[in-house]
Amino acid sequence: MKIVVIGGTGLIGSKLVPKLRANGHDAVAAAPNTGVNTLTGEGLAEALKGASVVVDVSNSPDWEDAAVLRFFETSTRNLLTYEAAAGVGHHVALSVVGTDQLSESGYFRAKIAQEKLIKESSIPHSIVRATQFFEFLKGLADISMVGDKVHLPHVLFQPMAADDVASGVARVAVSPPVNGIVEIGGPEAYRVDELVQRRLDMLKDPREVIADPNARYAGAKLGERTLVPGNNARLGETRFETWVTQSAKAGIAA
Ligand SMILES: NC(=O)c1ccc[n+]([C@@H]2O[C@H](COP(=O)([O-])OP(=O)(O)OC[C@H]3O[C@@H](n4cnc5c(N)ncnc54)[C@H](OP(=O)(O)O)[C@@H]3O)[C@@H](O)[C@H]2O)c1
Repeated sequence: MKIVVIGGTGLIGSKLVPKLRANGHDAVAAAPNTGVNTLTGEGLAEALKGASVVVDVSNSPDWEDAAVLRFFETSTRNLLTYEAAAGVGHHVALSVVGTDQLSESGYFRAKIAQEKLIKESSIPHSIVRATQFFEFLKGLADISMVGDKVHLPHVLFQPMAADDVASGVARVAVSPPVNGIVEIGGPEAYRVDELVQRRLDMLKDPREVIADPNARYAGAKLGERTLVPGNNARLGETRFETWVTQSAKAGIAA
């Protein structure tokens, strides 16, 4: 099958494309630097020619409320329009576990808008909601600063390796559309504040994490289990400790 991966050069996309190719598919990485821009429509008609599946693992370069909403709305609208014209039979998009409960956040209002456009479109679809990536733990600290300290709530989450995210998305991309949501997550649950502190300590990042019941995640209040996937979630195998060892060996610093 020809499978176009929108955001195919990003963290998840660059792991997903080789996995699909290893399974014998004609996977095409699409992103602005390969001549495909979902915001302007540039290169989309050409890239989608003959495609059976489109997988959207793109992300907005700007997370400011209006900019991120504009990104996911415009790019999803464009994609669905060009897919209909090209006869694409399956639209797969990567979203986040708990998205529907996070509407206080500008970023998640944009993900809610993305999911809504997909659900309302005529293209058969699968929305893969993943938990936070291990690779994002430092980023989570960066977006949770109050003064010089990291403020995060002492609630549960079940993060996973980006490689397992890509495997989970690949599996959905080569299966029939579910016309609904598939959840994927990590093998173990942790407390958000505690795991982010562990990660910062490992990176010799001196920042202190404060367990703050009023702290927000990208602007949204979290409940004890908002970020934990449901019982039917497919769980990745890579444990945090294994990922730490593997990524240290691979020289990944973030
Ligand atoms: N971070 C988490 O913990 C987490 C958890 C669950 C789900 N997610 C979701 O995972 C998805 C992917 O995240 P990621 O971290 O892999 O993203 P990323 O590394 O930032 O990659 C984003 C990709 O989107 C591409 N892109 C940006 N603007 C584009 C445009 N106008 N047209 C086409 N492509 C464009 C980028 O291309 P260039 O590099 O050329 O700009 C890049 O290939 C996001 O939708 C996010 O919501 C994230």
